Amino acid sequence: MNRRKFFQIAGITAGAGALSCVGLTYWAAQEPKADFCELSCLKETNMGDGILVAYASKCGSTGEIAEAVGKVLCESGAAVDVKRVQDVKDLKPYRAVVLGTAIRMSKPLPETVTLAKKHSAALAGLPVACFSVGMAMNTDTPENRQKAKQFLAPLLDAVKSPVAVETFGGKLDYSTLSPLFRWMFSQDKSGEMAEGDWRDWAAIDAWAKSLIPLL
Ligand SMILES: Cc1cc2nc3c(=O)[nH]c(=O)nc-3n(C[C@H](O)[C@H](O)[C@H](O)COP(=O)(O)O)c2cc1C
Repeated sequence: MNRRKFFQIAGITAGAGALSCVGLTYWAAQEPKADFCELSCLKETNMGDGILVAYASKCGSTGEIAEAVGKVLCESGAAVDVKRVQDVKDLKPYRAVVLGTAIRMSKPLPETVTLAKKHSAALAGLPVACFSVGMAMNTDTPENRQKAKQFLAPLLDAVKSPVAVETFGGKLDYSTLSPLFRWMFSQDKSGEMAEGDWRDWAAIDAWAKSLIPLL
């Protein structure tokens, strides 16, 4: 094989290798599409009279908590909108806000913090309650609570003076994860990232009811 031929074949092999690497990485990082809850009981309401429950979620479990909170607030007679953080354009229709986020890699999902920073002036004038959802709270102990609240710090820095802050256990369903995370978590022997649903619906309901006089 002459030099030219050698470099041709080497180039094609390297290119194909790089392409399959990129393709494999892309495939491994793809997360299946999740269902995201939306709810509106805004009814006939005056501008500025509603309550917004905005949430950030990757796999849908935080949205189901946001929906449960929204339903309790609706039942109390409030006009409520439950929507994803990325669908919030304007806070003018609202007199109060509940902001919820899933925790990933010990942090709130970045879109929640972005929303809080973008609307910081409006939020400063409204009662705001925050909640997080994560595996750190699978068992409710003072240590886990403290750890989970620390994860929420970037959001609390942006919101400044929330009227209430709560952390809830989460849900892990490997079928909703990317192949990469599915494989990583299946290798975890500590049990911290085991599949299961640790959302405590009674605690979620009680927290939502406690918000009624605060919002
Ligand atoms: C890639 C990944 C990283 C996670 N990192 C954390 C974490 O650092 N701390 C935690 O408490 N929970 C963590 N979790 C658990 C999620 O917060 C939990 O599954 C939550 O219910 C997911 O919410 P979602 O379904 O709304 O996306 C992680 C989950 C995934 C998939």
